[in-house]
Amino acid sequence: MRVLVVGGGGREHALCWKLAQSPRLTKLWCAPGNAGIAAVAECVGAEGVPAVVAFARDNAVDLVVVGPEAPLTLGLADACRAAGIACFGPSAAAAQLEGSKTFTKEVADAAGAPTAAWARFTDASAAREYVRTQGAPIVVKADGLAAGKGVVVAATVAEAEAAIADIMETRAHGDAGNSVVIEECLIGEEVSFFALCDGVRALPFAAAQDHKRVGDGDRGPNTGGMGAYSPAPAFTPALQAETMARIIQPCLDDMARRGTPFTGVLFAGLMLTAAGPKLIEFNVRFGDPECQVLMLRLADDLLPLLDGAAHGRLPDAPPRFSEDHALVVVMANRGYPGAVVNGSAIAGLDRAGQHALVFHAGTVADGDVVRAKGGRVLGVAAAAPTLRAARDAAYRGVDALDWPEGFARRDIGWRALPQD
Ligand code: AMP
Ligand code: GLY
Repeated sequence: MRVLVVGGGGREHALCWKLAQSPRLTKLWCAPGNAGIAAVAECVGAEGVPAVVAFARDNAVDLVVVGPEAPLTLGLADACRAAGIACFGPSAAAAQLEGSKTFTKEVADAAGAPTAAWARFTDASAAREYVRTQGAPIVVKADGLAAGKGVVVAATVAEAEAAIADIMETRAHGDAGNSVVIEECLIGEEVSFFALCDGVRALPFAAAQDHKRVGDGDRGPNTGGMGAYSPAPAFTPALQAETMARIIQPCLDDMARRGTPFTGVLFAGLMLTAAGPKLIEFNVRFGDPECQVLMLRLADDLLPLLDGAAHGRLPDAPPRFSEDHALVVVMANRGYPGAVVNGSAIAGLDRAGQHALVFHAGTVADGDVVRAKGGRVLGVAAAAPTLRAARDAAYRGVDALDWPEGFARRDIGWRALPQD
């Protein structure tokens, strides 16, 4: 099979790394890819929906695998299907599960899926009034794509009111702040759970836990994710079965009922509350860096799974995963999640590769030199029989790198390794 992966981050490096091992693969491209992806796929410059579809058509691509959400919300999967090319990823209409928090809440409510109580406001004073009547803690969200940064878990009413002003009046997230969703604050352990969907059926994939804050001890601003591990020890097989039965399949059924069936990977952000798993949000793609640890653990061939989902015929049995624990440490560019300077040279990649697998998230090749580009730059990942051993190997990889402009959290995995 001839496969084109769309994206250029750590998630896409991990997907390409795993796809490259498939006996069914004959050719792999990645658009745009990065310096690390170039080792396993041919990187191509196609950018934007029409260019990607034209490339796929001209090169007789059998399957397009879309990594990030942005091209999905722009209709890349629709355009592929219209051109007769199979695509792993939802239509723009189904991608609203990530693009609109209100849409997700409506689907969850229609499906009877457990989720936080919520209300939506287009008027800031009405939102403030609601927060005052509900009290704190309470959660305030911009109702649109805000790159994971439009959410404030407010410990006090004043904090919630400040968040409303920020989103709706200062418009810190632009048009994503036309309305706010205000939610009950769920208490518990947070887990990312992934299910493969073919429009009708869902198969459980695996769970992971992410570290969103930039600093050790979960301090500092939110990021796209500074590290992850899988499996998530708190997410027992019973909780997974409950999540499939009460959240994933009912929401998939509701999407089909609406005429917007969901194809691709459904990423459920869950809170494991005392009353069971509750849905925080859906994303319509693999998480990054979560995807990196999932690919390290996946024991089956990825290609038939993605291809099966894209063709509306997932296999009967869920994919198998190794018993190993996998952990990834993200190395970010100094200043992230704020402004960063691109272009610093990264050395020691080969040395790091002796301890861990180094996925590239934001790199460019400059002759023989690999240079940083963007906020999250590398994912240093390892798998081992215990989480502690995986963590130690990943950090040996981090420590073998010579990149003064980069930084990493030193405590990835701490929740699951409390005695350290
Ligand atoms: P989201 O962008 O919706 O994933 O929200 C970002 C983060 O805010 C989540 O990963 C949670 O840690 C937190 N969060 C969102 N909604 C809630 C909620 N209803 N209760 C508690 N925490 C939440
Ligand atoms: N790591 C969280 C995400 O991919 O949204």
